[in-house]
Amino acid sequence: MKIVQITDLHVGREGEETFGVDVRANFLKIKQAILKEKPDHLVLSGDLCFDKGDKVIYQWIKEHLDEINIPYDVISGNHDDPVMLAEIFELNDNLHDQQLYFAKNLGGYPFLFLDTTTGIVSQEQLHWLKTELAKHDREVVIFMHHPPIKANVPFMDSRHALRNKPEVQQVLFNHPHPISIFTGHYHVEKNIRHGNTIVHITPSCYFQIDQKHPEFKVDHHRIGFREITLENGTIMDTVKYL
Ligand SMILES: [Fe+2]
Repeated sequence: MKIVQITDLHVGREGEETFGVDVRANFLKIKQAILKEKPDHLVLSGDLCFDKGDKVIYQWIKEHLDEINIPYDVISGNHDDPVMLAEIFELNDNLHDQQLYFAKNLGGYPFLFLDTTTGIVSQEQLHWLKTELAKHDREVVIFMHHPPIKANVPFMDSRHALRNKPEVQQVLFNHPHPISIFTGHYHVEKNIRHGNTIVHITPSCYFQIDQKHPEFKVDHHRIGFREITLENGTIMDTVKYL
């Protein structure tokens, strides 16, 4: 099974100024790349909107996704509104107290999709995560917008990190089986392993952030996506840039 993850699209309204980047054109380029890759499934891991949740933008993205006819899942980022997302993408069954989180099986693997819109994993969601992890005695795959671990990207670690990392890590790191996590949010490409948990941070469809500079600095404007292949108990992944 082949999954493509795209993240941090930051699509604006038509004609909206988005710091000189044509984010809509970027999304259309990614759409063409996905068509070539022919994945079995697609995941959008948050920050679909340029600044804040917008039904018009969600509708525009949804129309393009529906056109390519590949099943997909969407999670919410800090520049999204999970209630609007659920309404436009018809995900109301996955909405719990205004948070969009859910479990499903893909290619024989258990997958969990979390909601970190507010910069934390809420207490009720943490409880749900623990319960879901306990159901499986094998590797679990998680998609969440924020990485649940320090990534040595000083600007993001100091200003925009997941705020309740220790609580989330307690649940993840004490789990007796491997966990593969795929995130966005940091606008970098990175893999970080801690014990049973490996965190893959996928580059943005907008711009990438300098991984050393303590202040905000754009590294480059090449856009990318991650291709994840699940095959006979092996998970392989590659980042491709356009
Ligand atoms: Fe984000």
